[in-house]
Amino acid sequence: MASRAFVPSVLLLLAFFSSTCTAQLSPSFYNTTCPNALNTIRTTIRNSISTERRMAASLIRLHFHDCFVKGCDGSILLNETPTLKSEKNTLANKDSARGYDVIEAAKSAVEKICPGVVSCADVLAVAARDASVAVGGPTWTVKLGRRDSTAAYPDIANSDLPRFTDSLNTLVSRFGGKGLSERDMVALSGSHSIGQAQCFTFRGRIYNNGSDIDAGFAGTRKRGCLATGDDSKLAPLDLVTPNQLDNNYFKNLLQKKGLLQSDQVLFSGGSTDSIVSGYSRNPSTFLADFASAMVKMGDIEPLTGSAGQIRKLCSAVN
Ligand code: HEM
Ligand SMILES: *[C@@H]1O[C@H](CO)[C@@H](O)[C@H](O)[C@H]1NC(C)=O
Ligand SMILES: *[C@@H]1O[C@H](CO)[C@@H](O)[C@H](O)[C@H]1NC(C)=O
Repeated sequence: MASRAFVPSVLLLLAFFSSTCTAQLSPSFYNTTCPNALNTIRTTIRNSISTERRMAASLIRLHFHDCFVKGCDGSILLNETPTLKSEKNTLANKDSARGYDVIEAAKSAVEKICPGVVSCADVLAVAARDASVAVGGPTWTVKLGRRDSTAAYPDIANSDLPRFTDSLNTLVSRFGGKGLSERDMVALSGSHSIGQAQCFTFRGRIYNNGSDIDAGFAGTRKRGCLATGDDSKLAPLDLVTPNQLDNNYFKNLLQKKGLLQSDQVLFSGGSTDSIVSGYSRNPSTFLADFASAMVKMGDIEPLTGSAGQIRKLCSAVN
């Protein structure tokens, strides 16, 4: 008798503590409230990527730049207003981050079937996974239940997002500050196997004739990025398979053909060399680690429970 009453009350207590102390994200969060949410998001994301392959890269980066700034809370999606300073206009994002319209379109499609239920932060997390799949990358189960911020954090964007001039130590400490290991950081940097970079982000590296760059590679890259004038001209981060999320990025690093300085520092005699060479030899290890690092990144400081809000529009606070 006593033990029969004891078991359910312990379960209730456990349920109570798990919902109040550590509100957890869960893959089934919308199962009853919006069962078609994920299919609806996927349709929009697939269509946009089939129109423009680069969009896959842009969406993965957008999720990263959301999560690194006060957690994955959709704060990057807010437009500037007279009373809100946007993250969109910060160092790493201005004239660079893109895909906002695609996320707004996916959100709007979800609003049509379940108004006020699915957060923009979750739409972005699902979009990043769908983007990976669309360019040959791995899939993973997206944890859900993030809520949207009511503010943007431009100062944190400027201080916390990594820079292409960062040293390995700086990068390690930036990712460590978000709970991500060196291995997570190297796996996530494999995102630079797709997408493009503007000339000004790699000019310093290709023109300084250092020993850390393949001379032939520097020569090729200089043709697409002149010493002056080409600042915003785009070049693929991975010349070999620019639209395929694969381990070629790591093979490039072994040959000193990383495009950004922040790419090559991952293989330049430091503590991450062995991770890079491991991924260059073993594509399936890279893909598995990439998937789990994306899940980990998606777990950074989410707003849950009754914190924040479910925005109606991703670009504006309700
Ligand atoms: C390790 C530190 C990192 C630095 C310093 C860095 C820096 C950059 C820079 C400078 C660009 C080019 C932007 C432009 O020229 O407009 C870029 C592009 C990109 N980054 Fe990173 N990044 C880092 C890590 C990551 C991570 C962790 C991810 C994803 C999980 C990521 C995903 C991407 C993608 C996909 C692109 C191409 C975007 C597009 O074509 O629209 N990066 N990154
Ligand atoms: C939620 O829905 C997904 C997709 O239909 C299904 O795979 C999963 O088992 C469901 N989870 C729960 C807890 O009902
Ligand atoms: C790199 O080499 C080129 C060609 O030899 C030269 O014109 C240029 O001034 C050098 N740049 C630097 C920063 O040393």
